[in-house]
Amino acid sequence: MNNEPEIISEINKISEDAEKLLNSSNNLDELESRFRNFAGKKSKIAAILHNIHLYSAEEKKIIGSKSNEVKNRIENIYNSKKDELSIAERGRFLSGRGIDLTIPGNYIEIRHKHPITAVLEEASDFFTSMGFEIVEGPEIETTYYNFDALNIPAEHPARDVWDTFYLLNGMVPRTHTSSVQARTLEKKQLPLRVIAPGRCYRYEAVDATHLFMFNQMEGLFVDKNVKLSDLKGILEETVRHLLGARKTRFRPAFYPFVEPGLDLDIECVFCGGKGCGVCKNTGWIEVIPCGMVHPNVFKYADIDPKEYKGFAFGMGFDRIVMLKYNINDLRLLYQGNLDILKQF
Ligand code: DAH
Repeated sequence: MNNEPEIISEINKISEDAEKLLNSSNNLDELESRFRNFAGKKSKIAAILHNIHLYSAEEKKIIGSKSNEVKNRIENIYNSKKDELSIAERGRFLSGRGIDLTIPGNYIEIRHKHPITAVLEEASDFFTSMGFEIVEGPEIETTYYNFDALNIPAEHPARDVWDTFYLLNGMVPRTHTSSVQARTLEKKQLPLRVIAPGRCYRYEAVDATHLFMFNQMEGLFVDKNVKLSDLKGILEETVRHLLGARKTRFRPAFYPFVEPGLDLDIECVFCGGKGCGVCKNTGWIEVIPCGMVHPNVFKYADIDPKEYKGFAFGMGFDRIVMLKYNINDLRLLYQGNLDILKQF
């Protein structure tokens, strides 16, 4: 441009020189001193701006904006070169101490809970949100709490239903968590709402749906005016919470410690109710055995069954986990096979 003052080409030259020199600096000190030469108080650009009053108003505008543009450009070059040199110097510093920044880092696998633990915690949170308290009982139990106090007397055929391991000292690895019901009632802190999760043991031939050790979650709700409809409402909500919206049904069943006794079934998750091998062609899968606490169970705990009523349930917890995650073999949950466990 003709009317461009000569000084503009001088400024362009400064910009080019600065770029070359800054970018070819070998270390931070060199970069620093070169940058000062180009942008410091004694730099050429500073001198040009200092003498800008010697030019006409129009020239002042052009020179001023050009000088600022170049100043910014020099600063940007300086900053990115500074980053580059700092990283390189840090690398040299560390490798001088035997640290190689180029070696890939250690892969740390993120751990997670076993599916049984995770669902157990989920269920526990759900029940505690409804005012239930979590209680525990011993895994090695007396026959009194495992059977008698639950209205299953010795010599009564009902006792045979539980394939029980008997220990030499006469105690049993509990066959169900229902024993915790008897222990809790005995404390007579009424009304009460408890759940009792834990391991149980039975003399079973191991297959896809049976293990000799498994998890149950017992529940007990006792108050002055508890009805079957309370049981229904809470257990249907439990199924919805743990397994999602599914068709459910209650069906009469016999358990000595409840009257009436029921089984809560859900529509088979594997065939959608059409009937398949898993649901034995019924279209339904039993998930929560339950019922209204039998008056005799109250009597064993010295509680007046006319004054108090209650409902109880005992879900096979591994079964819930299987249904939740579509697992077709219980053993997979206990083999510690990481290929399986990592999927949840
Ligand atoms: N304890 C029973 C079992 O393991 C399951 C059960 C049924 C528990 C009915 C209950 C109940 O609390 O009311 O076979």
